[in-house]
Amino acid sequence: MEIAKTIEDIRNQVSDLKARGKKVAFVPTMGALHGGHLSLIKMARQYADAVVVSIYVNPEQFGPSEDFGSYPRTTESDLELCEKEEVEVVFLPDTETIYGSAEKYFSIEIKELNDYLDGGSRPGYFQGIVLVVNKLFNIVKPDVSVFGQKDYQQYRIIEQMVKEFNHETELLMAPIGRANDGLALSSRNAYLSEEERKIAASLYRSLQYIEQQIKAGVLEPALLLKHQQDELEAKGFRNDYLAAFSMDKMSPVSKLEKGNQYVLAGAVYLGKTRLIDNIIIEI
Ligand code: PAJ
Repeated sequence: MEIAKTIEDIRNQVSDLKARGKKVAFVPTMGALHGGHLSLIKMARQYADAVVVSIYVNPEQFGPSEDFGSYPRTTESDLELCEKEEVEVVFLPDTETIYGSAEKYFSIEIKELNDYLDGGSRPGYFQGIVLVVNKLFNIVKPDVSVFGQKDYQQYRIIEQMVKEFNHETELLMAPIGRANDGLALSSRNAYLSEEERKIAASLYRSLQYIEQQIKAGVLEPALLLKHQQDELEAKGFRNDYLAAFSMDKMSPVSKLEKGNQYVLAGAVYLGKTRLIDNIIIEI
């Protein structure tokens, strides 16, 4: 396994792979790798001949009061996991490499897709993601790139970015990797206390219950959603959002229609930990 730290290094590595006729798949991450990330790597392997993983905690996607400083950084065990997965190249840049080279005269405006869900709750979050993924795509030039459904809005925004800016990469979405009790795997789960961990899967339970009710015919789910939020509050969660959103526009939908797909998504705080999860439902 090669470890590339500079842009020149990673470009050379990818050029070599492509020159040998290999299709290159890319899995961008912020490290603290878990089973969810590993399933993306496995999917990448299925669709390509060589896998490149990037590990970079991107400061631009953290708000001033968010957890950039305390975000888990476990590079050594991340590299071991990549090695086990037979990843060909790990791109491990530092911030000088990603952001150091030029003065910043541009900023990113996202005109749609960003008003609700995490875009609504975390100002600047997706601007930071679009900035870094755009850079990473230009640096790595992957044939295929894999993202997780866990961050569905991220997937949708990147899908739009690829279309509008003509990136030459095919996007794949991997299903959500979960712990045995259903909790969506996340690097931030490391923040949960033992007590918090015991109830953390409640968000997924609520989503599953809402999905069942919708499938049983509740097509105007406002009350149902409110009731589940109250239940989560009673258990000690603080609600951010819980709603059904359109798959394409990422806007809340109050009246669901048969034959359509929606993303049922929620975000809650448990102590200091922010948890997100979603289910794609087809009615
Ligand atoms: P990170 O949170 O490390 O996630 C990297 C990728 O793993 C994303 O595509 C995310 O959706 C996926 N992922 C995380 N948890 C998952 C789970 N339980 N099941 C399936 N996939 C999961 O997302 C980011 O990093 C960053 O925003 C990044 C795209 C790297 C840009 O900085």
